[in-house]
Amino acid sequence: MGGTNPYLKSTAPPRPTRSYKITFLPLGREVEVDPAELPYSRDGFAGSILEIALGHDIDIDHACGGVCACSTCHVIVREGLESCPEASDDELDQLDNAPGLTPWSRLACQAVPDGTRDVVIEIPDWNRNLVREDHP
Ligand code: FES
Repeated sequence: MGGTNPYLKSTAPPRPTRSYKITFLPLGREVEVDPAELPYSRDGFAGSILEIALGHDIDIDHACGGVCACSTCHVIVREGLESCPEASDDELDQLDNAPGLTPWSRLACQAVPDGTRDVVIEIPDWNRNLVREDHP
């Protein structure tokens, strides 16, 4: 799936301009993000946490295909949240429907780290079984 949401008012955040590292918990998988290799896929904004995860075979549920029309791609940014642009009103509206919401919650398809620091992402419980099935 993938594409754009015609009802979305927000525009794509800028892609990172420097390399940085994302760690996906609880997998402990570290991914080096090279801006020159983006985008990997069409699910989520280019350079989004979702796109980077999918591009490295780390599956995060994304029922709407990364167009900010659900909350299934909810992740918690444990470190480096300040390197992600603030959530748009559209993202905040969808996050309101996410279970287990925290002050560090973001939609993986909408959050695009700018590369100014490394980022640590926690994939919540409801996505972990999916991840484990793909990566025993
Ligand atoms: S995949 Fe639906 S909002 Fe991110």
